[in-house]
Amino acid sequence: MSGRLPGGTAWAVVTGASSGIGEELARGLAARGHALLLVARRAARLEKLADELRAAHGGKVEVRVCDLGDRVGRADLRAELAELEVGVLCANAGFTTCGPLSEADASREREEVEVNAVALHDLVLTVLPGMLARRRGAIVVTGSTAGEQPVPTAATYSATKAFANTFAAALAQELRGTGVTCTLLAPGPVHTEFTAVGGIEGLEAHRWFAWKSAPFVAEAALRGAERGRRVVVPGVMAKGQALAGRQLPRGAVFLLLRTVVLPRLRRARLA
Ligand SMILES: NC(=O)c1ccc[n+]([C@@H]2O[C@H](COP(=O)([O-])OP(=O)(O)OC[C@H]3O[C@@H](n4cnc5c(N)ncnc54)[C@H](OP(=O)(O)O)[C@@H]3O)[C@@H](O)[C@H]2O)c1
Repeated sequence: MSGRLPGGTAWAVVTGASSGIGEELARGLAARGHALLLVARRAARLEKLADELRAAHGGKVEVRVCDLGDRVGRADLRAELAELEVGVLCANAGFTTCGPLSEADASREREEVEVNAVALHDLVLTVLPGMLARRRGAIVVTGSTAGEQPVPTAATYSATKAFANTFAAALAQELRGTGVTCTLLAPGPVHTEFTAVGGIEGLEAHRWFAWKSAPFVAEAALRGAERGRRVVVPGVMAKGQALAGRQLPRGAVFLLLRTVVLPRLRRARLA
């Protein structure tokens, strides 16, 4: 597929649309004329964005309030999506925890696995049969450069993102020639509410991490998906991080993490 994402009567579904990258994916899709289904927990945020997008672009925008960490609540969304003509799925919702696992809140860690990995998997499995039957569809999975190597003190997060990265890459290969594409969006650090939610807001002061904006990252993802790209890593620094995580020996990666990343992460967490 190249040029345009499946639109027309089809819906574009964006999870995690109440803030950050998801909000900007929704803006980008609305500007391209897609009918939108916005998913997250914060209803007021979603409604405000829906009003803004309807006023700006005149298209259909609907809101579905759903806690993706709740299997029961998620089942209603899955049932609805299975019946809808979904042209684009942006499986984007996610969050990080940070700190030694021994000190972590176990229920929050489980929720992280559920939202970042299980729900993502669930939603892709839900929309895929319809897309394949129509021979038309685009899936965008938000993984992370953090999924390219294990990150101590973000063990659960990096493991969930390794799942997202690997899942999306494998699916993209399976889908060759089907008319359906899967694009992995693997950003490096992005200015969103992500650090505040993860309790590491102080990290944003470190310019070394080469922070990108959410509009930049979302636009790169949509352009990549339009071209049927299998991976989008926005920015030179993020590309370097992903490459280092994949290609360097584990010992070298851990040394780099221990000397450059982990002390800053620790200071941000304890600030
Ligand atoms: N920011 C970065 O540096 C960075 C880097 C690489 C990858 N990413 C990934 O990018 C994605 C988007 O994150 P972001 O940076 O845009 O952070 P963000 O501004 O905090 O947005 C996260 C979104 O996920 C939604 N979400 C979280 N838990 C949810 C749940 N239980 N049910 C439904 N929705 C939930 C949030 O909505 P509600 O709170 O309203 O539910 C929000 O819309 C995530 O998958 C993240 O891992 C971020």
